[in-house]
Amino acid sequence: MCISDILTRPLCFAECQQQLQLGRSVVSWIVGGHEAPEGAWPWVVSLQVLRGGVRFVHLCGGVLLGRRAVLTAGHCVDGRTDPCSWRAVLGVHNLQKHSPQTARRRIRRIMVHSEFKRETFENDVAVFELRSAVRYSLSIQPACLPPAALLPPLENSSDCSISGWGRTSEKGKLSSVLKQAHVRILPPSLCNSSEGYAGLMNDKALCAGAWAGGTDSCQGDSGGPLVCYHPGSDKYYLVGIASFGVGCGRPRYPGIYVRLSQYRTWIKAKVLLTNQTQDPTGGTTLTILLALLQTLLTQAL
Ligand code: ARG
Repeated sequence: MCISDILTRPLCFAECQQQLQLGRSVVSWIVGGHEAPEGAWPWVVSLQVLRGGVRFVHLCGGVLLGRRAVLTAGHCVDGRTDPCSWRAVLGVHNLQKHSPQTARRRIRRIMVHSEFKRETFENDVAVFELRSAVRYSLSIQPACLPPAALLPPLENSSDCSISGWGRTSEKGKLSSVLKQAHVRILPPSLCNSSEGYAGLMNDKALCAGAWAGGTDSCQGDSGGPLVCYHPGSDKYYLVGIASFGVGCGRPRYPGIYVRLSQYRTWIKAKVLLTNQTQDPTGGTTLTILLALLQTLLTQAL
């Protein structure tokens, strides 16, 4: 428990079906990526780590799945398993300029897939449990995982989108404003051919971007959403999260995304766990006392 955590909020949950429909016309598609219209991707989260004990810096993207659940890439955790060194920023467009719509949350628990392999990036998923639930708004909405019947069209879609604050070129800097790019899902046979990843991509991954290069996610976008549009329901569904790539935007090396359809059970179980956490209502005094005791003890030792 972080000493600073003595604020609690009541729990309330809602389904992602309550997602507000932002007109598609708001979003213009430019290959290569451009600044996202504010509020276009209300489920995208900035996961930040404490640097030098004073300020938080953006490290990875994440996707809001419930009032307390943020899905991200397992490799983002990479040894930083102490929840106290992290925070999540939601409903934000410019990381340097939080707006009244922005919510900041400390992390209660980090759950990395037990089979995550850092050598191969297999099972590159993790769920961050927020210390207190967020309230959904125009700028903060959970993403929907697609129903099974929609998977075949969505996992072959040419109308998908990625968003994040990652580097704007392979050697470039992070972007302070949220950027988006239009991508298509490419056939694994192509991405995994000897021309490209040559078998490096496993069947629990998706490859998306442009075979010719130019449009891609990059460092700092990991864990962020790959959503695909379903015209029938006029909705975006979460199909993948950014995992890895060779360089950024290089021809024949599109981005590799975790194929979330392969992790439905795992994701559901973890999101459920975050729903079950009880806020210690009425236990605030005890929490303060415990925090005080902890401080005294640390000073005494
Ligand atoms: N691993 C990177 C990160 O930690 C994301 C890489 C995505 N790269 C790519 N070329 N699509 O942020």
